[in-house]
Amino acid sequence: MPKASGTEFRFNQSDFRFIADFIGTRTGIVLGDVKRDLVYGRLAKRIRQLGLSSFSEYCDLLASDQDEEIEYCVNALTTNLTAFFREPHHFRRLEEQVIPELMARKQDRELRIWSAGCSTGEEAYSIACTAHNCLPQDWDIKVLATDLDTNVLNTAAAGIYKLDRLAGVDQKLLQRYFLKGTGSRAGMVRIKPEIRGLIHFQRLNLLDPWPMKKCFDIIFCRNVVIYFNKDTQRTLFGRFADQLQKSSYLFIGHAETLHNVSERFELTGNTIYRRVS
Ligand SMILES: C[S@@+](CC[C@H](N)C(=O)[O-])C[C@H]1O[C@@H](n2cnc3c(N)ncnc32)[C@H](O)[C@@H]1O
Repeated sequence: MPKASGTEFRFNQSDFRFIADFIGTRTGIVLGDVKRDLVYGRLAKRIRQLGLSSFSEYCDLLASDQDEEIEYCVNALTTNLTAFFREPHHFRRLEEQVIPELMARKQDRELRIWSAGCSTGEEAYSIACTAHNCLPQDWDIKVLATDLDTNVLNTAAAGIYKLDRLAGVDQKLLQRYFLKGTGSRAGMVRIKPEIRGLIHFQRLNLLDPWPMKKCFDIIFCRNVVIYFNKDTQRTLFGRFADQLQKSSYLFIGHAETLHNVSERFELTGNTIYRRVS
């Protein structure tokens, strides 16, 4: 019979520090002391599954550098909260100002958008639906959606969600771009192929070198850097600026800011920035 949560496995401060440093170095995610219970809660099941008796044994396993265990640990310690059309003012702005501006400016009729830290895909699908709905048919829309966590990417790539996750989504978009399940699939929705086909999901650690050669017209990196320290944010936003066309747009999360982080962007609306240098 497992003991109550938090006491089944020995977990001392040096085990916690080891895991926090291990994750911090590999992902940029800062796990402060307040996250100790979270780390215990998310890894205890794994320790039990592996037949280990303490966090110290688990730390030894991580230190032995096995890719599979590192992936498990990273997946377990990311925070993946997301939603369709989260922060709806971003999608209104995309539709009413950003896309019309790019339509007027871009002769190549190509729109390249990156959802960096896409989690289970809702952000990328919301972007693709918005772009498809407002651009003429002959525009070439491509959305790159990346995340570090391989579990969330599998969900994202499947494009199947519980219908209740779409509560509040505009009815016209819902009807145009989502297929409602029937019979044994009642209560589920699937993204239509015309939208699924616009998105390429790929694993990418934002701290690693990026393979993309072309620049983007828009980058969404929302509710990701909130878990990083300021130095990591500075480096990352410099790299985002390099990866964006001049005068193109960066959308960040509601609790994030570029103030004292990057001077290469100007604020053009609530958490919406334009690259200036
Ligand atoms: C809270 S979710 C945000 C999802 C979405 N952008 C939104 O705002 O709804 C944060 C995501 O960032 C990802 N993430 C964290 N560190 C990362 C890194 N170093 N590289 C790539 N993705 C990372 C996590 O796996 C997680 O899925």
